Amino acid sequence: MHDFYYKGTKLYCESIAVEELVQKAGTPLYIYSQKTILENIRRLQTAMAPVEPHLCYAVKANASLGILRLMAQQGIGFDVVSSGELNKVKYAGGQTQLCVFAGVGKTEIEIDNALELGVYAFNVESIPELERINRLAKKKNKKAPVAIRVNPNVDAKTHAKITTGTYENKFGIAFEEVESLYQKAHFNYKNIHLKGVQIHIGSQLTTVSPFEKAMEKMAPLVASLKEKYGIEFFSIGGGLGIAYEQALESGSARWWQNEGKDFASPEKLADALIPFLKPLFTSGIKILMEPGRFIMGNAGILATRVEYVKQTGKKNFVIVDAAMNDLIRPALYESYHQIIPLEKTRVEKTFTADIVGPVCESADTFGLNREISQVKEGDLLAIMSAGAYGITMASNYNGRAIPAEILVNNTNADYLRTRESIQATWHCEGIPEWLLGNKEMLPPEESGVCPHGKDC
Ligand code: LLP
Repeated sequence: MHDFYYKGTKLYCESIAVEELVQKAGTPLYIYSQKTILENIRRLQTAMAPVEPHLCYAVKANASLGILRLMAQQGIGFDVVSSGELNKVKYAGGQTQLCVFAGVGKTEIEIDNALELGVYAFNVESIPELERINRLAKKKNKKAPVAIRVNPNVDAKTHAKITTGTYENKFGIAFEEVESLYQKAHFNYKNIHLKGVQIHIGSQLTTVSPFEKAMEKMAPLVASLKEKYGIEFFSIGGGLGIAYEQALESGSARWWQNEGKDFASPEKLADALIPFLKPLFTSGIKILMEPGRFIMGNAGILATRVEYVKQTGKKNFVIVDAAMNDLIRPALYESYHQIIPLEKTRVEKTFTADIVGPVCESADTFGLNREISQVKEGDLLAIMSAGAYGITMASNYNGRAIPAEILVNNTNADYLRTRESIQATWHCEGIPEWLLGNKEMLPPEESGVCPHGKDC
C-alpha cells in the first residue's frame, strides 16, 4: 500500500498535489511519501514481531541522505555493500555498529575502514575474503565480527539478473561447505569472531515458497552453528517483493495492492518462516532482515512531462522527459512500472502507446504497448513504484543530470536532492595538459546553456 491517490482528478502524495511539487521542482522528479516508508517498516516489524527482527535497511535501494536519516531515526540498522554506503550512513547519522557489510569484492581499504568504524558484522562471501579480513584484523589487533553468507542453492523464481541464491550465482559459500568452514575458521582464524550466519537468495520474490525452501535447509544449520560455535545471529536477507501492478479505486483515498492469493507479503512471510525462526529465536539467536525494496519501492514515484506524441508506422510513442538514466529498471530487467497521469481527465480517452525516454537507445522505454490516457505535449505522468533502485541506479548517460528528489511528510515537502546542474555532470573531469594547449578553460557558467534555467 502507499499514499499516492487521486483526490478528484489530481494525483496526491499524502496531503500535497503532485502537480504542485512538479511546478516548483520541474521534471523528471522523484517524490517519496514518508508515511508510506514508515508504514512499510511498521508492517514488517509487526508481522515478524514474534522473533523481534532487527531490520538492516538495504542502502542500495535508496541511499539519499534524508532517507538514511529517516531510517536511522527509526532505530534500524543498515545493510551496506561498500565504504561509500558505510560512510554515507555514518554521515547521515546512522550507527556503523548497526551495519552489516556485504558484497563479494570488499577491498583491503574497505575492510580497514569498516574495522576502524566498527560494524555489526562482515557478511563474508568467500574463503579468500575471510583470510583477508583475518589478516587485516590481526594487523589492528582486533577481532572482526563475521557472518558467512550461505548460498543455499535455492531458486528464488525471480528475474535472472536479481537471483542470487543458486550455484549459478557469484554469491555466498556453498551450503555443503559451510559447517567445515566454520570449524576451520574457529580453530585457525584467531582474529575472526564467528558472530552469525546470513542468506539472501534474490530480490523481488513474489511468493514466499523459495524463502520457505531456503529456511528448511538453513534452520538446522543455524541451530548446529549456535551449538558448536556460539553464533549470535541469523540474517534472512532481503528480497520480499512488491506489487508493481496496482488497481485504483476511483475516488478512494487509498490504493490497494492487486495481489494474487499467493503474492508475497510480510504476513505471509511471517506465516511461512516463524515456525522455523521461533525455536532459533527462543534459543537466543537474533533474527536480522535486510529489506530494501519492500520499504522504499511503493513509497516513491518518478514524475515526468510529455515532450512529444508521435507515430512511427503503426505505433504511437509518448516521449517523456525522464529516461533510462533516471530509472533503468525497465531497460535492464524489462520490469513493469505502472504509468498514470497526474491529472485524470473526467472522460477518460485512452490509446495504446509505448512510453519512451529521449535517450538514444531502443531500450529506453518505460512501458510497451500500454493502454494509457490520450496524453498530449506538456501533460504530466507518474511512473509508479520507483522508490527503490531508481535514483541509486541513475547515471549521467547522454549528458543528462541526476534528477531532483522530494520527500513529502503530510503537508510538508522538502528536497532530498536538488537537480544536478549540467556543469556538475562533468565536475570530476579534466582535460590532459597536452590537449589544453594555450586555450584556457572557459569558466563553468559560460560553458553551456543549462536547460533547467535559472534554478541551476
Ligand atoms: N541483502 C542483500 C545481500 C542484497 O544483495 C540485497 C539486494 C538486499 C538485501 C535487498 O533486497 P530487496 O529487499 O531490496 O529485494 N536493482 C535490482 C535489485 C537488486 C537487488 C540487489 N540486492 C532491481 O531494481 O530490481
